[in-house]
Amino acid sequence: MDEIDLSQHFLGKELRYPLLVNALTGGTDQARRINQALAYISRKHGLAMALGSQTIALEDQGLRETFSIVREINPGGLLMANLAASASLEKVLSAVEMISADAVQLHFNVPQELAMYEGDRNFKGVLKNIENIACHCPVPLIAKEVGFGFSREAVKMLFDSGVKIFDNGGKGGTNFIVIEDQRDGNFNHELYDWGIPTAISLAEIISLKLPIRVIASGGIRTATDAAKAIAMGAECVGMAAPFLKILLDGGIEELDKMVSSFLYRLRAVFLMTASRNIKEMQKQPLIIVKETAEWLRAREIDPHFCSKRI
Ligand SMILES: Cc1cc2nc3c(=O)[nH]c(=O)nc-3n(C[C@H](O)[C@H](O)[C@H](O)COP(=O)(O)O)c2cc1C
Repeated sequence: MDEIDLSQHFLGKELRYPLLVNALTGGTDQARRINQALAYISRKHGLAMALGSQTIALEDQGLRETFSIVREINPGGLLMANLAASASLEKVLSAVEMISADAVQLHFNVPQELAMYEGDRNFKGVLKNIENIACHCPVPLIAKEVGFGFSREAVKMLFDSGVKIFDNGGKGGTNFIVIEDQRDGNFNHELYDWGIPTAISLAEIISLKLPIRVIASGGIRTATDAAKAIAMGAECVGMAAPFLKILLDGGIEELDKMVSSFLYRLRAVFLMTASRNIKEMQKQPLIIVKETAEWLRAREIDPHFCSKRI
């Protein structure tokens, strides 16, 4: 067990584990406390962390500290800024500067916007915007879905616009159509099943064999989920809701315990599959069955696409 090494050089930093505390919050006193705790846990375990959307702090300078606290707590850590894909280059640069970010996530959440009465309805010009940001942003740009999953066509378009890192954000975990509907959205109990499941979205993206780096997220809940995503070719695995829920329910001690035991089980899965590190896990044969296999057949994607992931 001691020889299992899950460390990963990612976006210019050394991670002890290929795990990302994905975008959650910022902007209020409570959000500041949450970010502080998440930054502490990320530093302690050597994980990456993304901030919640920073728009609010670009509009009100007084709220910057609810985000920048993460850099104070974790000065050497891998931190990602976060804004909507429609954000201007100027806003992206400010968000990066706010936390001395190592990378910036630009989130795509069209279904969520459409489910909200007050959400966006106009998505014209997003690709051009991304192209401009990719050209001028001083840190790597990550295109991130929030739970509906990128398709291979979407990834190909974004790749052609200059994006080289993707967080696939598939269906299976947090569901923003349900959340917005419960908050008085206008999808009226329909479309709850919208989206591409995480495993399928990962297969769609990785089988493109583009020179890209992939973070797997959306409904990752167990060490086995994480190991499978890595075996499929993801270099890092993101989780969002579970961190927040455990922190709010049990405080930082419970979150610390949860993360420690999750990481223990992740190393156990690596040992049980005789994978000493991420590279070895990515050489393990994949057995793709049921809906995922059927989907790959329908899309004419070779189920041996991972032999191999570049
Ligand atoms: C309370 C909450 C707030 C979130 N806020 C953001 C956000 O500001 N920006 C973003 O890109 N994603 C945001 N997300 C999406 C997550 O980063 C993640 O993509 C999504 O929840 C799927 O992961 P999960 O199933 O592990 O929760 C949020 C998720 C939750 C639960």
